[in-house]
Amino acid sequence: MHGIIPAAVLAIAGLAQAEWVKFNNSDLFPDVTYQGFQSDNPVTIAGSRNLQDSPPKYPSPWGEGHGEWADAYEKARAFVHQLTLEEKVNLTTGTGWKMDRCVGQTGSIPRLGFHSLCLQDSPNGVRLTDFVSVFPSGVNLAATWSRELVHSIGHAMGEEHRGKGVDMQLGPVVGPMGRAPEAGRSWEGFGPDPYLSGILASEAIQGMHSAGVMSSLKHAIAYEQGHFRLPYESVEMGWNITAPYSSNLDDVTMHELYLWPFADAIRAGAASVMCSYNQVNNSNGCQNSYVLNHLIKNELGFQGFVVSDWYGTWSGVSSILAGLDMSMPGVPEMQDQYSGRSFWGANLTVAVLNGSVPTWRLDDAVTRIVAAWYFVGRDEANETLSFSTWTKDTYGPAHYAIGDGLIHLNEHRDVRGNHSNLVREAGAKSTVLLKNTNGALPLTGKEKLTATFGEDAGPNIRGPNSCKQHACDEGTLAVGWGSGAPDFASLVTPDTAIQNEVSKFGGAYESILTNYASEQIDTLARRADVALVFVNSDSGEGQMVANNYGDRNNLTLWKGGDELVKRVSSSCPNTIVVVHSTGPVLLEEIKQNPNVTALLWAGLPGDQTGNAITDVLYGRVNPGAKLPFTVGVARKDWGTDVLYAPNNGILAPQANFQEGIFTDYRGFDKHNITPTYEFGYGLSYTSFSYSNLRVTKRPVREYTATQGYTSAAPNLSRSDVSSNPANHLFPSNFSMVPLYIYPWLNTTDLASASGDRYYGSNEFIPPGAQDSSPQPLAAAGGAPGGNPALWDIVYTVEATITNEGEVEGDEIPQLYISLGGPYDAPLLLRGFDRLSIQPGRSSTFQADIRRKDIMNWDTVAQDWYVSGYQKKVYVGSSSRNLPLSATLA
Ligand SMILES: *[C@@H]1O[C@H](CO)[C@@H](O)[C@H](O)[C@H]1NC(C)=O
Ligand SMILES: *[C@@H]1O[C@H](CO)[C@@H](O)[C@H](O)[C@H]1NC(C)=O
Ligand SMILES: *[C@@H]1O[C@H](CO)[C@@H](O)[C@H](O)[C@H]1NC(C)=O
Ligand SMILES: *[C@@H]1O[C@H](CO)[C@@H](O)[C@H](O)[C@H]1NC(C)=O
Ligand SMILES: *[C@@H]1O[C@H](CO)[C@@H](O)[C@H](O)[C@H]1NC(C)=O
Ligand SMILES: *[C@@H]1O[C@H](CO)[C@@H](O)[C@H](O)[C@H]1NC(C)=O
Ligand SMILES: *[C@@H]1O[C@H](CO)[C@@H](O)[C@H](O)[C@H]1NC(C)=O
Ligand SMILES: *[C@@H]1O[C@H](CO)[C@@H](O)[C@H](O)[C@H]1NC(C)=O
Ligand SMILES: *[C@@H]1O[C@H](CO)[C@@H](O)[C@H](O)[C@H]1NC(C)=O
Repeated sequence: MHGIIPAAVLAIAGLAQAEWVKFNNSDLFPDVTYQGFQSDNPVTIAGSRNLQDSPPKYPSPWGEGHGEWADAYEKARAFVHQLTLEEKVNLTTGTGWKMDRCVGQTGSIPRLGFHSLCLQDSPNGVRLTDFVSVFPSGVNLAATWSRELVHSIGHAMGEEHRGKGVDMQLGPVVGPMGRAPEAGRSWEGFGPDPYLSGILASEAIQGMHSAGVMSSLKHAIAYEQGHFRLPYESVEMGWNITAPYSSNLDDVTMHELYLWPFADAIRAGAASVMCSYNQVNNSNGCQNSYVLNHLIKNELGFQGFVVSDWYGTWSGVSSILAGLDMSMPGVPEMQDQYSGRSFWGANLTVAVLNGSVPTWRLDDAVTRIVAAWYFVGRDEANETLSFSTWTKDTYGPAHYAIGDGLIHLNEHRDVRGNHSNLVREAGAKSTVLLKNTNGALPLTGKEKLTATFGEDAGPNIRGPNSCKQHACDEGTLAVGWGSGAPDFASLVTPDTAIQNEVSKFGGAYESILTNYASEQIDTLARRADVALVFVNSDSGEGQMVANNYGDRNNLTLWKGGDELVKRVSSSCPNTIVVVHSTGPVLLEEIKQNPNVTALLWAGLPGDQTGNAITDVLYGRVNPGAKLPFTVGVARKDWGTDVLYAPNNGILAPQANFQEGIFTDYRGFDKHNITPTYEFGYGLSYTSFSYSNLRVTKRPVREYTATQGYTSAAPNLSRSDVSSNPANHLFPSNFSMVPLYIYPWLNTTDLASASGDRYYGSNEFIPPGAQDSSPQPLAAAGGAPGGNPALWDIVYTVEATITNEGEVEGDEIPQLYISLGGPYDAPLLLRGFDRLSIQPGRSSTFQADIRRKDIMNWDTVAQDWYVSGYQKKVYVGSSSRNLPLSATLA
């Protein structure tokens, strides 16, 4: 079967088979002409315009082994020093789509026993294999506001990846953040607040690393919508688009919002950063030298490696010079995925031999990869790769894309351990109680007839993993769709868990698991003592579900959810609504409905969803979660939206971030818009009071800009590496796997070995890109995460939180700062904790304010500074309930 791609294999590939639908989408997509808010900051306005460009920044900074990376770098350099050119190229390039067993794999170095690196989705569990946990999604982890829990889950996910033989888990996500509430993939990350996002991503990363698995912090950067992210995909969906959309944003918004969580996570040791599909200022995410070379590697002192999102590499020489270190999955574009071609691979070997790519740049890319590998202790991990992404059958083709001879592919290792406890705990601890009247919750366990309504309470009758990439909204919603969705080894539905609960106390239980059985719903709702209504709203990545192309078209509930709530509640005055959604949905009507006695947002809780909600409903877990986003009254209240229609002909659609930093609560606050439920909001079965705010100024050194130069690029090359192409040909008798990406040349003529029809005709090398001499450090740089003085603690804030009720509960005190300037947000989250407090007892909330937390970005000095405006600190239970405040001296 060599060389022949079975049609079936293509069909499984999701977007592989091009169905060139007619170029007319007007019947599918809403005509959203809504104009968002504009910032009044001249810098923002000037820096978020159509067709603006991204300044070149070269050379690509070489890793120097800063801080905790010193050891890993020493080992990595010693290792890289032994490598031949082809061995180096092998570690930087994916071997092709479906050629090996993971979603992405690099070449290997058989001579030194260095195995091919396995890169596997997802941010919430091992994707596309069996016997794994589906952990609560990022947006739920954000709703827990718990550093400890996110750390534990990071560790548990790391253990499962490691157990299956994965080297790098593709997560966590800090972009998209949710600039627009409809953005399809926001649920994979920690929501629209950069501070919360940065702290929790750091915990997730350290958790993963403590299990001996590399992390991949994604996506860099400003990847705030799915629409138009890839030309091929856009064409498939009916738009004639030739380039990914461009996010156009200014330098202040970049630093104070989108880059912020990257700084924390890089400081926490992120092993890799994944660059994004979208363009930034009209330069592709994976070859934007300003983003990769300047912001990530220089200013944030990143020591790990940059890996492309799959098919996000658009060039060879240009991308590696702009700071990309690894190209995945090796082949260029989706429609080219079975071509056996690569911008990297042999082309990179050619580019080094012909002098386009300096050896030090390749050495740096490889050093970064190997250093990250040592950094997390992968040299001590001995679990072998035990599964295939492409089938769950035990036996299958060694190279799936070409369907060659059968091998033992899947060992079916169950790597879940006791993680279901953690999934259940985090599910319950991420459930936000939004409304609770007449003591509706917790349920007493004495209800005579409990009735559950809604498809969202039940199973997908075709099976929990029946939809390709989970791209459907069938049955209970426990994860969104796309590459963030692992397969369920087991899925405990709300219907099952509630029924089990009711049968324990001997009540009666009936459920109707469709939204459309009007008559039966009316009859049952009239008889019920309590009606539990489950509704949802889904979104995801890259596929069309109910006409939603990744991003949602609206913010209402799906499948007639609002009508279902109305119907049930018109017959039952004790209706409790549970919402599973990937992000904000409009809830004002439900909030105002007097027969809806309780309302819970449960997000995407993962595989223990039913048990988790039952724990909350029956009071075993007292809800403590808080919304990690704002729920507005109307869609226009957010002031930001997805760009749904191309606005630049067939060229890159232009997404101008004119609202600047004023996304989510920053926008609602600035424009004085009252939301249904504000950012940080959430109730408990008890109540808490806040008192006794103490602000202590801490002695700190002056902030000084980082000065000086890097060392020169280290020379790690072996002296015996020949520049003669004849020494870089495929070894004789090498048995080539068709379509596989190799580092060797097929002929000594570099032009024909490359096969690039433009070879030699475009020899532009950006000025400075080959310069290996010492380079100036960025003022705001100097260490992973940036200038170390940015992290000095300048104030410690304390407050007393008292549990005024009858039951133990968790409270999440939040600290906000107002920086005081005319272009600043009224409030910025700058501290939080999750405290468990016994009834009648008090606990001290303590938050450290780091220097950066009170700073603004200076676009001229290219550094952080403390403005002269008076700063205030606020402490309370949500962004709009802040009983304590003080002026910062
Ligand atoms: C696209 O579809 C709409 C609605 O179906 C139709 O009115 C319009 O004429 C079509 N446009 C083209 C160019 O086919
Ligand atoms: C994008 O362009 C704006 C306006 O020139 C500039 O302020 C900003 O730094 C640029 N960012 C990138 C990543 O190119
Ligand atoms: C590159 O990796 C491939 C796949 O693992 C392997 O077959 C080949 O031998 C490697 N080449 C070198 C030079 O190590
Ligand atoms: C896309 O637009 C270009 C330029 O207008 C045109 O040449 C090309 O034929 C279009 N492609 C399709 C499939 O309509
Ligand atoms: C090198 O890249 C070019 C595209 O620029 C591609 O056409 C060619 O096939 C690649 N060569 C190899 C060996 O993959
Ligand atoms: C893997 O390493 C651990 C110690 O870290 C050891 O106990 C175990 O036996 C090793 N397993 C294999 C298959 O080598
Ligand atoms: C919003 O989108 C969902 C999913 O496509 C759909 O079920 C619902 O009817 C839409 N709501 C409105 C008001 O059109
Ligand atoms: C609330 O429920 C009662 C039945 O108990 C019904 O008469 C009333 O119309 C309902 N109210 C609403 C707003 O649905
Ligand atoms: C070598 O590889 C290039 C790129 O894939 C291809 O265009 C060329 O035909 C090959 N040459 C030989 C001699 O196989």
